[in-house]
Amino acid sequence: MIIAIDGPAASGKGTIARQLAQVYGLHHLDTGLLYRAVAKAVLDAGHAPDDAEHAIEAAVAFDPKRFDEAALKANAITEASSVVAAIPQVRQALMNYQRAFATRPPGAVLDGRDIGTVIAPGADVKLFVVASPEVRAARRVREMQARGEQADEMEVLADLKRRDERDSRRTAAPLIQAPDAHLLDTTHLGIDAAFRAAVDIIEAVRAGRKRR
Ligand code: CDP
Repeated sequence: MIIAIDGPAASGKGTIARQLAQVYGLHHLDTGLLYRAVAKAVLDAGHAPDDAEHAIEAAVAFDPKRFDEAALKANAITEASSVVAAIPQVRQALMNYQRAFATRPPGAVLDGRDIGTVIAPGADVKLFVVASPEVRAARRVREMQARGEQADEMEVLADLKRRDERDSRRTAAPLIQAPDAHLLDTTHLGIDAAFRAAVDIIEAVRAGRKRR
């Protein structure tokens, strides 16, 4: 079983994906970490994130075994990750790893921006998770504070909107709801309610498939 979860920044897709993977016994991949890893490598080497040559080089050299998730989540990497993610050859270089991950038995939950559209268009269930920008900014501020980072809510909101816009407008695999993806709005849902809503959608899809 492959579950594809896409949506804008801080919409709750990562938390839902992690919990679904646990409950259904599937592997989980937060694909944002791949673009973050490329961005970090480019910044660490002293290059600009829109320096396509070095970004592509970093994507080709991407090694999933050398992954420091906590360092990759840092806000300093976030903006740069969406800049490198707009470079088509960067996305191309990261594609095989994601597709191989998705098809490894017994299946996987992948969350990102283009899972249902590009990486796993044949996924068994697709969710498109959204929430209002204000709610997403408040969630991101809490996450940053929990990590001991400084966070200004207005600044976080502006960053988030700018990144959503860049992710949606790029020509390479833009952030867009797949026609067969189920919309899940978590604006008024806590973590447990959002998770239950996701399970309800998945179970309804599976039941529908069995009936056919
Ligand atoms: O956690 P958050 O939603 O803030 O970001 P993320 O999922 O870690 O993704 C960081 C950036 O990577 C996004 O803004 C996208 O530009 C890019 N990304 C992408 O292009 N495609 C994906 N499948 C996942 C992330």
